[in-house]
Amino acid sequence: MAGGRSYGNPRFRSPIIITLLFIISLLIYISLSPSRPNLPSTKSQVPMLNPTVDYSFLTSLQKFLSSPSESRQYRDDSVANTASQADVKKLDDLMWRRETEKLYEDSAYPGVSVVRVYVYEMPDKFTYDMLRLFWNTYQETVNLTSNGSPVHRLIEQHSIDYWLWADLIAPESQRLLKNVVRVYRQEDADLFYIPFFTTISFFLLEKQQCKALYREALKWVTDQPAWNRSGGRDHILPVHHPWSFKSVRKYMKNAIWLLPDMDSTGNWYKPGQVSLEKDLILPYVANLDLCDAKCLSESELKRRTLLFFRGRLKRNAGGKIRAKLVAELNHAEDVVIEEGTAGEVGKAAAQHGMRTSVFCLSPAGDTPSSARLFDAIVSGCIPVIISDELELPFEGILDYSKIALFISSSDAVQPGWLLTYLRSFGVAQLKKMQMNLAKYARHFLYSHPAQPLGPEDLAWRMLSGKLVNIKLHTRRSQRVVKESRSLCSCDCKPANFTNSRPLS
Ligand SMILES: *[C@@H]1O[C@H](CO)[C@@H](O)[C@H](O)[C@H]1NC(C)=O
Ligand SMILES: *[C@@H]1O[C@H](CO)[C@@H](O)[C@H](O)[C@H]1NC(C)=O
Ligand SMILES: *[C@@H]1O[C@H](CO)[C@@H](O)[C@H](O)[C@H]1NC(C)=O
Repeated sequence: MAGGRSYGNPRFRSPIIITLLFIISLLIYISLSPSRPNLPSTKSQVPMLNPTVDYSFLTSLQKFLSSPSESRQYRDDSVANTASQADVKKLDDLMWRRETEKLYEDSAYPGVSVVRVYVYEMPDKFTYDMLRLFWNTYQETVNLTSNGSPVHRLIEQHSIDYWLWADLIAPESQRLLKNVVRVYRQEDADLFYIPFFTTISFFLLEKQQCKALYREALKWVTDQPAWNRSGGRDHILPVHHPWSFKSVRKYMKNAIWLLPDMDSTGNWYKPGQVSLEKDLILPYVANLDLCDAKCLSESELKRRTLLFFRGRLKRNAGGKIRAKLVAELNHAEDVVIEEGTAGEVGKAAAQHGMRTSVFCLSPAGDTPSSARLFDAIVSGCIPVIISDELELPFEGILDYSKIALFISSSDAVQPGWLLTYLRSFGVAQLKKMQMNLAKYARHFLYSHPAQPLGPEDLAWRMLSGKLVNIKLHTRRSQRVVKESRSLCSCDCKPANFTNSRPLS
């Protein structure tokens, strides 16, 4: 690492000028901002960990599995084995009655619409047994790898299925999220949650055993009257690892998939099966601990590395960019690029690197996005995203241009371009982005109990915004006659430029 250089515009080096400018801008800000009675306390703006909340998958899972099973409340009265058309009709009539009541009677329109979710009570082999399998093998196979990563780490990174489900089935008195309620009668539901642990089964079951379980799960779900009624359009399917449920998920392509990314190149999720309108992008579970308010203020003077990257230097597909970047950046004195190692040692090194750097490189991995992006966010390190195809979580709510830089891969590999660009940022600009990062960090911390404004909460807010369209497509699919042009698609597709410009 280079010595104590700080980054910024040399004109602003003098501390007196900076202090003066700060006071002046503060005065201008105070005089210009209208009186805001609901100004959130500054406390809520800086990342804070609540000591009574579990943020670690392992800690939370251990408590979850050892809590008495009385807390599992079977109140379900309407799960049928195979949907008969009479069951489907009965459910549809009931749902219509509820919706009609709501339409005409709830004239006092509530500000935030609450999503009502029916959680299927699937047999243990799809749910608890998978979690137990993970727990029982965690110690033994810490060292096992698949594609170079320890499988249990990989499952943790994709454990969104655990966090969402654990919140939904927690006793109502312990739940904090107000935007989603669990309902126990199917006719009360807006959405149906499928609690099948597709990623754990993929990585920890033997191949044929996994395929058989996938087929069983498919049959179990598609036999439900509620699935039949909507063709699955109002069903939520967690398939957060690109390989999970791969052999059968095409039969569930109408459902709302929970994804880490879209990948329009079709390597992982196929075009026609996924779309931004139907599906929901959820962040990877960060590997690193939150750099909280105290950590941030301590790290303020320590961020002496301009750009940091730690990870595997060669990856597939879009990840090829990594090798070129390394070649381009390797010689700069204030850039740290390290070949990653797994385990606690690797984590400590990554955490140290991200907390002592201004920018953190986030190139495409196996998927266009990667867990590293979220590690950077919780570490207060401004992500430099070099991934031409990438979708981001909660983009209807969050503005990533306020916390990250987006750079095309062709710019990034031009000699000298990237470092010149990064050095052009002034201290004030960096401070602003760092403050926004600190504010946003809480949106990427999964936890139990799930916290307001955490990723679980934002997931339901995003889904709430999709509801009217989900219902539209459900109703529409029920009434189209066989001569209708049944194609109705609104995916974001790669444009076809064949006519407008030559292919190179
Ligand atoms: C697994 O990892 C642990 C800790 O990293 C190490 O002590 C142990 O020797 C490893 N076991 C095998 C079989 O490689
Ligand atoms: C609904 O059930 C009927 C027969 O019971 C079947 O023909 C149809 O394909 C099912 N629809 C869906 C979407 O599963
Ligand atoms: C792009 O447009 C051209 C001309 O309309 C057509 O021939 C070609 O098949 C299209 N390509 C794709 C991938 O849709």
